[in-house]
Amino acid sequence: MKIQIINGPNLNLLGVREPSVYGKMGFNDYLAQLRVAYPQVEIDYYQNNSEGELINKIHEVGFSCDGVVLNAGAYTHTSVALLDAIKAVSSPVIEVHISNVHQREEFRHHSIISAGCKGVICGFGLDSYRLAIEAILQAKNSLQ
Ligand code: DQA
Repeated sequence: MKIQIINGPNLNLLGVREPSVYGKMGFNDYLAQLRVAYPQVEIDYYQNNSEGELINKIHEVGFSCDGVVLNAGAYTHTSVALLDAIKAVSSPVIEVHISNVHQREEFRHHSIISAGCKGVICGFGLDSYRLAIEAILQAKNSLQ
């Protein structure tokens, strides 16, 4: 079982960036907790601030892993290219957001990438990532 987490722009600054919105924990600390909680799952992590690099990563892993957990950051609201990349691959992609984007500025209410994703989880803080992993595991188990 292999799950790829992909974080987009500015998410390298988790723990430092707007802690009132995104919390005080850095992603590496959270990732360590996730790996302890799911020893049976290989959880790979990738972060990049560039749209093209995120697309390259989706192409690279999107035909072989069991699921992609994608927080595309602000590209969520702008990137047709990311939507196309998500639609191009065969692995299910779960869109996640740490904050509840619907409680925030109006420009965050619309996601361009949701149309290509299997589902969307937002508003649960870093726990949004765990919930996405649960969704991937649940879908996989219900097929067996
Ligand atoms: C975010 C929400 C986006 O609107 C924002 O641009 C981010 C983070 C979230 O996780 O809540 O960078 O994806």
